Amino acid sequence: MYRAEKYPNFDLEKFYQFLNSELLYLVEYEDEWLAALSNAAALLHHQLADINWVGFYLIKNGLLLLGPFQGKPACSSIVVGNGVCGQSAMRRETILVPDVHLFSGHIACDTASQSEIVIPLMKEGQLYGVLDIDSPSIGRFGPADQVGLEAFVATLMEHVSWEKVVF
Ligand code: SME
Repeated sequence: MYRAEKYPNFDLEKFYQFLNSELLYLVEYEDEWLAALSNAAALLHHQLADINWVGFYLIKNGLLLLGPFQGKPACSSIVVGNGVCGQSAMRRETILVPDVHLFSGHIACDTASQSEIVIPLMKEGQLYGVLDIDSPSIGRFGPADQVGLEAFVATLMEHVSWEKVVF
C-alpha cells in the first residue's frame, strides 16, 4: 500500500529520485491506464510543494482532452497549438513558463496559476498527450524540476498501457 508520507528535506535530485521510485511502485503492475494516470496525478499533487493544479491532457482526434487531474475544474479541451499545453504538444518538447503572464496565448484555467511546466507524453515517436503542472508562485519550476519531471514522464511512458488508451 502507498504510505503517503511526505518526504524529508531532500535536495531536488533526491526528491525526484524518490518520487520516481514511488511512481514505479504505483504503475509497474497496473494494467489500467486510467488508474495509473489517476494515481500519478495524485502522487504529484501530494508530494509537490507550491502547486495548484496537476493533470494530464490526452490526444483524441487532434484535440487535447482533459484526463486525470487534481485541482480546480479546468478547460476540458485544448486545440493543439493553443496555450502552453497545445504548444508543448505541437513542438513535442517541454515548456517551462516562469511567468504565465508573459507567455503569449497562455490559457488561464485557474487564475491562481503564475508559473507552469508542460511535458509532452511521447513514446516511439507518437504523441499521447501532455502532463501540465501549475503553481501559484512565479518561477516555481527550474531546470532540476524539468529533469526530474521528464524522468517521471519517462517512467509513465515505459509502464502505462498506452496502447489501450480510449475515451
Ligand atoms: N494553462 C494551460 C491550460 C491548462 S490549465 O492550466 C489546467 C495552457 O495554457 O495550456
